[in-house]
Amino acid sequence: MFHTRFIVAENAQEAGALAADIFENLINVKPACVLGLATGSSPLPIYAELIKREKEGKIDFSRVRSVNLDEYKGLAPDHEQSYRYFMQENLFNHISIKPENTTVPDGLATDVDAMCKAYEERIEEWGGIDLQLLGIGHDGHIAFNEPEDHFPKMTHEVKLTEMTIEANKRFFNSADEVPKSAFTMGIGTIMNAKKIVMIVTGAGKKEILKKSFWGNVDPQVPASILQLHPDVTVVCDKDAYPF
Ligand code: GLP
Repeated sequence: MFHTRFIVAENAQEAGALAADIFENLINVKPACVLGLATGSSPLPIYAELIKREKEGKIDFSRVRSVNLDEYKGLAPDHEQSYRYFMQENLFNHISIKPENTTVPDGLATDVDAMCKAYEERIEEWGGIDLQLLGIGHDGHIAFNEPEDHFPKMTHEVKLTEMTIEANKRFFNSADEVPKSAFTMGIGTIMNAKKIVMIVTGAGKKEILKKSFWGNVDPQVPASILQLHPDVTVVCDKDAYPF
């Protein structure tokens, strides 16, 4: 079993800054690195830090390439709740990354198999993901890999669980408006990343954090697979840390 590193911050703000340090270091030693990026509220303090640091001249995103974890099925890139829109608003529009160097699954893809295959190929062409950022859902999902009887390998379409729809309805007018399906990198895609940083904040995530890293490796808790990755750092705040 590999040893997951834990960094325990005072609060979400500090956790964001500590996770941003890992990004800053990588971008400075490998300016054309490939970042795997995530949505959700947990990464927001990291993105705010990274924007600030580029403005201060500490990092340069002009050669960085990025690939996002997932996207809702059926949402256009300019839909306010799409993950493409989220990334534009919260990161891409404020840094020097080139639009053609950013990748988010196409929510409107009609040939799903072709889109998923092309997604995997792009990651491969770029030489793989150097650093993958993850959040975690209350049921242990990573990206949109929901609890299942197996660990899905590659980018694919998933049906969202009631729990995820409930959790994500806060961004929509009602639960009915939350798409029922999504496109997501697979567990295999994520596990192929060279380095993984997971950001976990708030007391609501304490239980699942404990289950994921101190419980059995079990596809019913998708994040538990990370125990088998050789380079995982969990940056959490005191409220989320189980001990
Ligand atoms: C969504 C995303 C996940 C994210 C999760 C938790 O389901 N697909 O990538 O980790 O939400 O989000 P939050 O950080 O807002 O709790």
